[in-house]
Amino acid sequence: MKIRSIFIISLSFLLIYCKKKPEIGVITEKAMVVSARKEASKIGSDILKKGGNAFDAMVATELALAVAYPYAGNLGGGGFMVYRKNDGEIGALDYREKAPLASHKDMYLDSLGNVVEGKSVLGAMAVGVPGTVAGVFETHKKFGSLPIEEILQPVIDLANRGVIVTKKQEKRIREYQPKFLKANKDSILFDKLWKENDTIKYPALAETLTRIQKKGRDEFYKGETAKKLAEFIQNNGGIITEEDLAKYEAKWRTPIVFEYDDLRIISMSPPSSGGVCLAQIMNTIESYDLDQYGHNSVKSIQVITEAERRAYADRSHFLGDPDFVNIPLDTLISKQYSNRRMSDFSFEKPTSSEDISHGNIEMVESDETTHYSIVDQFGNAVSVTTTLNGAYGSKLYCSELGFFLNNEMDDFSSKPGVPNMFGLIGAEANKIEPEKRMLSSMTPTIVEKNGKLYMVVGTPGGSTIITSVLQTILNVHEYKMGMQEAVNQPRFHHQWLPDVIKMEPNGFSPKVKNKLKELGYELDETNSPVIGKVDAILVLPNGKLEGGADHRGDDTAVGF
Ligand code: GLY
Repeated sequence: MKIRSIFIISLSFLLIYCKKKPEIGVITEKAMVVSARKEASKIGSDILKKGGNAFDAMVATELALAVAYPYAGNLGGGGFMVYRKNDGEIGALDYREKAPLASHKDMYLDSLGNVVEGKSVLGAMAVGVPGTVAGVFETHKKFGSLPIEEILQPVIDLANRGVIVTKKQEKRIREYQPKFLKANKDSILFDKLWKENDTIKYPALAETLTRIQKKGRDEFYKGETAKKLAEFIQNNGGIITEEDLAKYEAKWRTPIVFEYDDLRIISMSPPSSGGVCLAQIMNTIESYDLDQYGHNSVKSIQVITEAERRAYADRSHFLGDPDFVNIPLDTLISKQYSNRRMSDFSFEKPTSSEDISHGNIEMVESDETTHYSIVDQFGNAVSVTTTLNGAYGSKLYCSELGFFLNNEMDDFSSKPGVPNMFGLIGAEANKIEPEKRMLSSMTPTIVEKNGKLYMVVGTPGGSTIITSVLQTILNVHEYKMGMQEAVNQPRFHHQWLPDVIKMEPNGFSPKVKNKLKELGYELDETNSPVIGKVDAILVLPNGKLEGGADHRGDDTAVGF
């Protein structure tokens, strides 16, 4: 063999050997919880180990996140759960916040009709009536198997023992401290310069949770906690009353269900736009050969972007709280409608968002947020996304009760045509009305394959939630990746307006970016250091579970 040939063969071996192997996530035999903090995943997993089911673990994980992840975990916010039981029964729970009784459509406008900057985002006026405590108790009432006292005890212990500050948390707290000062009259726990490896203890939150443990759901909505909460919000200039809290109810909803190739996808229905938009986008792209085009190739990005553009244009026009607005759901999630919407697409150039409006349907009439996925040892699955909306919500912290309050009112359209904090343009369907739930993008999702549980997936990220869930499913299904590998991939996002493709920096090849620009797409790599923070579980062919815990955060998979 010539020296040259030996050199080429050796180099080939070296290249094959050096090609980074895709990362495999945590693998477990039977059960798993993947969430934004190890402490919460462990508490959820321990509940499963004790014989609890996925719904018991939901209660434990949700409340443990309220302790360990105050950035988005909460008692003062709300969320959505999609579930699939081991017998195939599916359902969804809406514990979204709602507008207070005293709210009205112009509450964030000045006398000239202009939006008052910050009013729907910072402080007590931004707060919607919280739904989380109602959500966990409703879940437990219907499906729980362990006593609630037993489920809450490790969460209370965690609050008393305290939680170690991570590097990422240190950075986040520091970043938001100026806003904590603005939103709160008195100093709060998070004003201190917390450093990595410090332990933050939460005695006030432990006391609140202990009262809830003893007295149940109504302690939060009708008891001492309700009284203190309403008084605190009003003392800070807000409008939530004891009556608002007393009237709050979580609601069971019918999830959005649709098919994509051989997958059956079960996702959240309105008042979240998540499932509807996901269905619209997936229906639109189903007939294109994404696997042939290649992962994050120009053609794949084009097709997905154009489908997203059209779905988000519809989102703004048609979607709102189904108890208040008539949504043409069947049409929106039909394949015929999505195909019709794509009829003007060409690979030669982008469609301009100016030329795209909502479809004509005959009407018969932050990165902030957090997601966790659970599969239990019995085969039940829950997918839950919960939020305060912005990072630390309204930044208003009730020191006496030990938690932050949401700024979910910003998810309403304060004024048609004016973008919210995620740049989403709202319309009449999502205007503020007393007791109405604000439109969400949260997309807790469960995927079946051949009639069996296949994947549990979801993410935070405001308007980018839907497109991050989409890309994670496609990475597994179209591009044959494992769960952790799928979660690790760089992501992009388009939401109709602004007419740009947001991309995670350094994740896309210069060749692909140049070609997209040449075609006329505007790219933005500067405003989104990360897009989404996906926590997911994949059922492997041998029945084991692979966790996908997003390294963009401190997210961790724990199970057995
Ligand atoms: N607050 C984020 C969402 O509900 O989409």
